[in-house]
Amino acid sequence: MSNFEDYINVNKNVFEMRLFEALRIPSISADESHLSDMSLCASWFVDGFNRLGLKSELIETRRHPLVYAETAAVPGKPVILIYGHYDVQPPDPLELWISPPFEPTIRNGNVYARGATDDKGQFLTHFFALESILNTAGSLPYQVKFIVEGEEEVGSEGLDEFLHSESGKQKLACDCILVSDTGMFAAGQPTITYGLRGIAAFELLLTGPNRDLHSGTFGGSVFNPAIALTKILASIIDQNGRIQIPHFYDDVLPLTDNERDQFASLPFDEAGFFDAIGLRNGFGEIDFSTNERRWVRPTFDINGITTGYQGDGSKTIIPSKASAKFTFRLVPNQKPESIVDNVRKFIAAVTPDEIKWELEVQHSAAGMRLDLEKSRFVKPMSIALEKTFNKKPVFIREGGSIPIVANFNAVLNADVLLVGWGQDDDALHSPNEKFSLANFHAGILASARFLKELEK
Ligand code: BES
Ligand code: ZN
Repeated sequence: MSNFEDYINVNKNVFEMRLFEALRIPSISADESHLSDMSLCASWFVDGFNRLGLKSELIETRRHPLVYAETAAVPGKPVILIYGHYDVQPPDPLELWISPPFEPTIRNGNVYARGATDDKGQFLTHFFALESILNTAGSLPYQVKFIVEGEEEVGSEGLDEFLHSESGKQKLACDCILVSDTGMFAAGQPTITYGLRGIAAFELLLTGPNRDLHSGTFGGSVFNPAIALTKILASIIDQNGRIQIPHFYDDVLPLTDNERDQFASLPFDEAGFFDAIGLRNGFGEIDFSTNERRWVRPTFDINGITTGYQGDGSKTIIPSKASAKFTFRLVPNQKPESIVDNVRKFIAAVTPDEIKWELEVQHSAAGMRLDLEKSRFVKPMSIALEKTFNKKPVFIREGGSIPIVANFNAVLNADVLLVGWGQDDDALHSPNEKFSLANFHAGILASARFLKELEK
């Protein structure tokens, strides 16, 4: 076969089968009982790269291994680094899955499995795109590198350490980093995401009495840590979602009229957006639209609270301990280190003296923003997208975080190009995660066309 587009067409089933192989591996990075699945999954990728004739290796980190691969270097030509993650979020609650999370199942043109969109399916589009070119043309006149990590869902510390090492900097050196771990603005609407939020994730643990107490004997005479916790958490945010921590907004850049107009001009079905998640209305800072709130404003969210009695019936106690996991989404120019400092000072100031507290910073990362005017990779990608989806791409920012991208941009001094094939209803991090197979195949084609476009 001489044409990469024919190759892609003929191999649709093969690509799907190989995606399903990857989806069967429960590579849950947060869960220590899946350590061996993490190495199994990393090896699956190393084998795939080797079979394609790339030089590939498994790089150990303190936690989950990295997978690195490269085609032959072509001096004087640009280098494209393609990034993805093979780790997935825990699948709980299991009882809500229609088919088991690690048995990929097709329904209505979608594959259902944990990691289908986030990020095995999305990442593999680029792998199959390169395969289609190498197995037809034989080679590319420039170098392509891959880095696939296993800690994206838990903060990317291993990759960050590698990125800052001498060997890491050399291996990852490139002109453009291509990432598919974001979404499309609407079904069938090709999308380039030029900004992401950062994150700062915490766990706060409060301790009151040295054991759970009878709430009749002691109630009213000692501070209840569960009440202390809810008061502290409630004081972080006001009724409009405005964060009350001093200096929190110091580095937030104002939204320009230009960007505001551009967001407002997007064909956003706001009623449908809320309807799909069973809500009638949104929530958030006054004077900001839903998309502004989601994409360019920092936020506070409680991710989980643990305290007291959770079993059947009632139990009249004052719990000894209360804890919460919470996150702030940050916008570009906010510095995670200052946020951590300010949060710590705030907790110290508002926690009652009778309660002992420990604040653990779980991970943090800065937000990123690509200068669309300056990047020379936006045009070839736009051409490839328009040809594939018969529509010009829209340019959006998104609210999720890919912790490593801001540091890629800073350390490698290269543009990060985020082009996703996901959809809002793909249920990332939720039960019944899915990936549209049409998007999977279109993604492969668009990626291959982009790689071809770069030859010019
Ligand atoms: N694919 C997502 C990031 C994403 C989600 C981008 C939605 C744009 C829209 C990624 O895998 C993810 O979930 N990241 C985590 C990172 C965190 C755990 C450090 C996130 O955003 O919560
Ligand atoms: Zn994710």
